[in-house]
Amino acid sequence: MATTDQSRCSNAGDAAQPAVAVVADLPREALPRHVAIIMDGNGRWAQAQGLPRVEGHRQGVSSVRRTTEHAARIGLEQLTLYCLSSENWRRPAAELEFLMCLLEKYMIEERDLIMRENIRVRMIGRREGLPASTLAELDRTVELSRGNTGMTLCLAINYGARDEIAAAARQLAEDVGSGTLEPAAIDEACFASKLSTAGMPDPDLLIRTAGEMRVSNFLLWQISYAEIWVTQACWPEFDEALLEEALVDFARRDRRFGGLSTT
Ligand code: IPE
Ligand code: IPE
Ligand code: MG
Repeated sequence: MATTDQSRCSNAGDAAQPAVAVVADLPREALPRHVAIIMDGNGRWAQAQGLPRVEGHRQGVSSVRRTTEHAARIGLEQLTLYCLSSENWRRPAAELEFLMCLLEKYMIEERDLIMRENIRVRMIGRREGLPASTLAELDRTVELSRGNTGMTLCLAINYGARDEIAAAARQLAEDVGSGTLEPAAIDEACFASKLSTAGMPDPDLLIRTAGEMRVSNFLLWQISYAEIWVTQACWPEFDEALLEEALVDFARRDRRFGGLSTT
């Protein structure tokens, strides 16, 4: 029978770990290569301040800025941010319009930081439905940063994992239909190569702000073995200290990948 007795279920690795309080004390191999963040709670944060929901989105851009800069300085290989889901189109037109304007403005205003920190920007998600002017600024930033060799900043915009998986399946079916691919050659690596994240490492750590315990159609294939870290803080409150807290906690996890503990 399942037990809720913490002493019997506790992570065996925890007791053996030295108390590390800051990321600077961690060896490089204890850090995740790829951190993905579901930036949630903008609306709730604004409402709690007596402000309109969109003010939460505006404030959220500051969190994006400080998180990106700090992640790049720590030396993470990749940071993926969930900016807009394919399901977010269910929101009121005015909020969506505001988000598009904000995205466009972000693309222009953050170029200095992106180039200064040697960050390479990529986008995943469907271009269809996004305004041409937003896409143009996004493309400009992607192009400008193409040669950068530091952290990859992957922006998930109009992204939905089920849509991404269905598109990959469709592509594989077309390849089989045209005779360029044998069905027997479709394995995990082949499938992953058809996803929009092809060539990227899978996220090691998935952070969600605002307390919700769900993944909301984000990187369903890629997060198979990601460690999940949820904070009650809303995205506009997220800062360097919370990122460090998540990274330190990640370093204490015992990742078994279906095998047995090595500690
Ligand atoms: C996340 O904050 C931003 C987007 C989904 C674009 P929300 O807007 O979802 O904020 P809550 O969850 O309603 O508080
Ligand atoms: C997930 O947040 C999408 C983004 C952060 C862009 P939502 O606010 O859309 O998720 P649900 O609706 O609470 O699942
Ligand atoms: Mg939300």
